[in-house]
Amino acid sequence: MKTAHLTIDPAFRIGPVRRHTFGSFVEHLGRCVYTGIHDPGHPTADANGFRRDVIELVRELGVSTVRYPGGNFVSGYRWEDGIGPVDQRPRRLDLAWHCTEPNTVGVDEFLRWCATAGVEPMMALNLGTRGVQEALDLLEYCNVLGGTHFSDLRRANGAADPHRVRFWCLGNELDGPWQLGHKTAHEYGRLAAETARAMRMVDPSLTLVACGSSGANMPTFGEWERTVLTEAYDEVDLISAHAYYWEEDGDLASFLASAVDMDRFIAGVTATADAVRAARKATKRINISFDEWNVWYIHRAESQPPTGDDWPVAPVLLEDRYTVADAVVVGSLLISLLRNTDRVHAASLAQLVNVIAPIMTEPGGRAWKQTTFHPFSQASSLAAGEVLQVAIDSPTHETAKFGDVTDVDAVATHDDASGETTVFVVNRSPDEEIELAVDLRSLGAVRLLAATTLHSADHTWTATADDDSSVGPRPNATARVDGGHVTAVVPPISWSVLRLGR
Ligand code: AHR
Repeated sequence: MKTAHLTIDPAFRIGPVRRHTFGSFVEHLGRCVYTGIHDPGHPTADANGFRRDVIELVRELGVSTVRYPGGNFVSGYRWEDGIGPVDQRPRRLDLAWHCTEPNTVGVDEFLRWCATAGVEPMMALNLGTRGVQEALDLLEYCNVLGGTHFSDLRRANGAADPHRVRFWCLGNELDGPWQLGHKTAHEYGRLAAETARAMRMVDPSLTLVACGSSGANMPTFGEWERTVLTEAYDEVDLISAHAYYWEEDGDLASFLASAVDMDRFIAGVTATADAVRAARKATKRINISFDEWNVWYIHRAESQPPTGDDWPVAPVLLEDRYTVADAVVVGSLLISLLRNTDRVHAASLAQLVNVIAPIMTEPGGRAWKQTTFHPFSQASSLAAGEVLQVAIDSPTHETAKFGDVTDVDAVATHDDASGETTVFVVNRSPDEEIELAVDLRSLGAVRLLAATTLHSADHTWTATADDDSSVGPRPNATARVDGGHVTAVVPPISWSVLRLGR
């Protein structure tokens, strides 16, 4: 059996584990909102119509922030449609997904859901068909105490206290020709800067995210970031990155190595942001909000919106079923996000429920976990303290898209307070079992608290409502600790977590 050597030293810190890395995303798309988080007829529904069974799974998943209400949807959205008495709210065409939006759930309901679920909202603004004024109106509605038109309207609608939303996305994917109100980088950069400047007149302490590219594969990638940041550098805090172009298209080895691509994407955005910084002689750094990422089988039938006269409410859309291999890739993308914690200050797994999601629901029925639920919930609950650089000396294998890649990829976190060190590992070889040899001597004497591995002899296994648990993280009985050295055998296409304590 081949061996991969990992060396971990608490002196080599990359940066803190950020709770905001474990964000997710709820869009008015398919069944994410309606029959996903909101299903008033469901036996577990609360007084607001929100499913308590889903909220419990959201808590178990360990989600920190939830981006809302889109996505492509937001670029044609009138937020005022979603406030006040529900029976008086207009139904509208949702041009992004060729659906009808009933506006049963709007900003007040969503923010109540966030409070119940214990997550922080990340509000996206429509800078596609709308602009500075509408962004200011929504900010006033959400955050101003009272005594003004929109803040008093919120109070009249039942929210006496301001919602105090801190995190705001200045539009969505405006580099994409599919986006309503698509713009050139210069047009968007100006609008983002002016919107941000106006919002800071209300509250300078907001965290504001400018739209970066909707993928590193966009023809304008790089130049888009450069132009937008040249216009908006002083006004914004973060620039977004979105990536979904990882899917198992017959080339399993390249798919399993998708994190190589995420690392490169992050390096490209930070290099561009730092080039603008140098040109401006600025001290401030712009960091990344990776606020849409996932595996997505975008070309499959389940992702094709309706057409013609068919404008359904909450149809089945983007309901990808995830395999064990998909879960291993999601785990490896989490490793990449953690490894880049110095520059990735927020991230959102897209999306949360039903739509390319770790949580699935039956309308009025069961809620269940997809395979991708497990790496996310383990990373979210176990990553703590500081992210450590892991020196990896691993056997490699050839991939068509990324050349030679290591069989094993890993990141570690170390929490001074508890003394716990956690190592997150993927074996991304399609066929090689690997022995891990982890050198932790610089941590002193350590105990193995737990070792788990997610794997299946059939990497195409998917969970269903009837069986979402016969594959999941299981104790790895091969793990041993001996005087600062930990060994464990990790099967091909697997995600493992080693927990060590004093
Ligand atoms: O998450 C699905 C879609 O992907 C979002 O609406 C859009 O922002 C992205 O292209």
